[in-house]
Amino acid sequence: MSDVQIEKISPDMGARVLVSASHLLDEGVAEQCLAALNEYGVLVFPEINLSDADQVEFSNRLGPTKASKFTGEKKDEADKLGIYPVTLDPTKAKFLDYVHSNEHWHMDGTTYEVPPKATNLKCVVPPSSGGDTEFCNLYAAYEALPAEMKAKIENLRVVHCAAAANLRYFKNPTVIDLQRWLRDGPPTEQPLVWKQSNGHTSLVIGSTADHIVGMDVEEGRALLAELLEWCTQPQFCYRHHWSKGDMVIFHNPGVLHRAHRYTVDSGRLMHRTTIMGTEAFA
Ligand code: OGA
Ligand code: MN
Repeated sequence: MSDVQIEKISPDMGARVLVSASHLLDEGVAEQCLAALNEYGVLVFPEINLSDADQVEFSNRLGPTKASKFTGEKKDEADKLGIYPVTLDPTKAKFLDYVHSNEHWHMDGTTYEVPPKATNLKCVVPPSSGGDTEFCNLYAAYEALPAEMKAKIENLRVVHCAAAANLRYFKNPTVIDLQRWLRDGPPTEQPLVWKQSNGHTSLVIGSTADHIVGMDVEEGRALLAELLEWCTQPQFCYRHHWSKGDMVIFHNPGVLHRAHRYTVDSGRLMHRTTIMGTEAFA
C-alpha cells in the first residue's frame, strides 16, 4: 500500500489527501484518488508542491486531459504541457472576461454535450487578498431537496450559454465580445435535473443558466435563483483558502464552484488542467 491518507473535511463535502509529491505517482494512488473524488466531490492536496509535468501526468491518470480551447499561442513551458493559466494578469491570460466571470457559481462545460469530469487547480502564486475558491456538493443538495420541489422540476430544461455567465459581470459588453461569447458557448439546452450513472443526481444550474424552457423568463430565473440558493447553503459547501503549492481537484458533474473576487494586484496564479468527461448531460 502507498502512503496516502484521505481525511473527510465535512459530512457533506470534500476530503484532504495527504501524500507527498514523490509518492503521488506511485502505483495505485491515482485509482485511490479517483474513487475519493467520486465520493467526496473535492480533493485538497495541501502544499503538495507538484511540478507542472507531474500535475499533467497525475491528471492524465485520472482520465485523458483536454487542452483548453482558450489557451493562447504557446508562450511558456506550462502552456506547452497543456496547462491553462487562471489569472487576471493580461500578459498570461488570453481573455480576462471568462476569468472574472468565475466569481459566480457555475459548472464547467454546460454548453458541451459532455462536460469535463474534473478540473485540477494548482496554486502557483496565492492571492495576497481575496481569491478563495468555494465548492458546493450538488448531489447532497439535490438529495435534501423537498419532495414537492423534486417533483416540480423533474422534467424541466434549461438554456445555458457563456454570455449568460459573462453578462452577470460585464453589464455593457461590446457586440464584438458578445459575439465571441455566443460563439465560444452558444445557447444550449440541458436537463435541469441530471441523473448520473453513479446513482447520484445533480442540478445543472449556475451562472451559465439563462432561462427555463417554456416558462416565463422572470419566473424561470427566480426558480433558478431559488435552487442555486438552496444548493449553496453552508452545509453543502467547502471554501478553500489557497497556500502556495496547494492542489485542488473537483468532480465537475457533482459540484458547483466559484472564485471569490480578487484583483490583478493580488498576484493570484493557478495552473489548471481539465480531465475530459465520459458522461453526457441527460
Ligand atoms: C475555473 C474556475 C475558479 C478559481 O478555472 O474553471 O472556475 O478559483 N476557477 O480560479
Ligand atoms: Mn470554472
